[in-house]
Amino acid sequence: MHNVPLETVKVLVIGPGGREHAIVRSLLADPNVSEVHAAPGNAGISKLVPTHAIDANDTDAVAALAAKLSVDLVVVGPEAPLAAGVSDAVRAAGIPVFGPSKDAAQLEASKAFAKEVMAEAGVPTAMARVAANAEEAADALDVFGAPYVVKDDGLAAGKGVVVTNDRDEALAHAQSCFDAGGTVVIEEFLDGPEVSVFVVCDGRNTVALSPAQDFKRIFDNDEGPNTGGMGAYTPLDWAPEGLVQEVLDRVAQPTVNQMAHRGTPFVGVLFVGLALTSRGTRVIEFNVRFGDPETQAVLARLQTPLGGLLMAAAKGELDKVQPLRWSKDSAVAVVVAAENYPGAPRTGDRIRGLKKVDALDGVHVIHAGTKLDGDGHVVSAGGRVLAVVALGTDLVEARERAYDGVELVQLDGSQFRTDIGRKAARGQIKVAAPGAPAGSKAKA
Ligand code: AMP
Ligand code: GLY
Repeated sequence: MHNVPLETVKVLVIGPGGREHAIVRSLLADPNVSEVHAAPGNAGISKLVPTHAIDANDTDAVAALAAKLSVDLVVVGPEAPLAAGVSDAVRAAGIPVFGPSKDAAQLEASKAFAKEVMAEAGVPTAMARVAANAEEAADALDVFGAPYVVKDDGLAAGKGVVVTNDRDEALAHAQSCFDAGGTVVIEEFLDGPEVSVFVVCDGRNTVALSPAQDFKRIFDNDEGPNTGGMGAYTPLDWAPEGLVQEVLDRVAQPTVNQMAHRGTPFVGVLFVGLALTSRGTRVIEFNVRFGDPETQAVLARLQTPLGGLLMAAAKGELDKVQPLRWSKDSAVAVVVAAENYPGAPRTGDRIRGLKKVDALDGVHVIHAGTKLDGDGHVVSAGGRVLAVVALGTDLVEARERAYDGVELVQLDGSQFRTDIGRKAARGQIKVAAPGAPAGSKAKA
């Protein structure tokens, strides 16, 4: 069926955001990738490759497009199409796909399911209780005490979690989830810095990418409501030696083994969100896809061709992949968001200055919520509009370059954090040794 020479592959990338733009960009740099298509894409993606205006969550439409284009590999970016079963539909059409099945995607789509699998696999995570009504929620809050952590059990684009010292606010969030017909997961608070590790999985084998740190809150110093992520940097010079191996041995491999044992093998990215607490490494959450905006920074440093890696995962052949190669540079991604994000964002505004950003040394723009208007101008079309990504010989230089770029972006009402990677660049992130008193409250 795939009568192209083995060494060249044609890839279809599903999704509309910054993560997908970064994936497309890296695939185009892979000498063995002959052609890339995207659906639906965004303004930045459409400047690089043909885009196709389909609904990414429509399983039949994605499978039909992949067949029509005769692609050799489909890469599914966001969680929603995965949870809708897009991978299953593409696989059923006989086309290799990078992205978990609908059943395996439950690791992200249901926090309660993720907790169940973690318990079966012996993965260290926060103690948690599922609550279905106000009484159960109040009980659980009092068992764990403040700070309170209340999570919507379903998919919420990073915005379904409330962490607060205010018991009434915690209860109110739980109630809003019950009112919407859902349940919540209430858990113990995890102290310590957070880390995102992306583990590429083929159903049996696991390969970790370089760890990154994300900035979840909208405002500097981790203030304000949670967002999908306002910026990221990588690598993490301050991370304990052996962290990645620990994540593979204690988290990713046991989870992949358990998913295979359940008959729902995991193929795709297992995104391990960790807290490095005073009591040791704990999983905060699983996602079943690359993180956004961490991917924008992580892929900027990956020198191993991406297409070959994702194809090997899709075909169950990760054990044949050589150790990944990385640039020695640091990478920083700073998100420029629309006015009022993470509330309903202002959209439809012209974005200027992007060519100047791309002309800077070591800097490029990754589009997220953008589209072309009738005149071919780039306009805002979502909450997180774009990310400025910069490489530098160290984090200090990468930050400087990224912020030089951000200053050139003109978008009315836009907002960005000024402290992406700042604590790390200043050597201010401390990881408490497990067993030591909880001295570190670093949260950046
Ligand atoms: P999640 O959607 O589970 O990743 O949660 C979003 C964010 O809420 C995380 O990145 C953390 O910053 C915070 N968070 C979630 N769970 C906890 C926890 N148990 N303790 C402390 N912070 C948490
Ligand atoms: N940046 C976090 C996420 O992609 O969920």
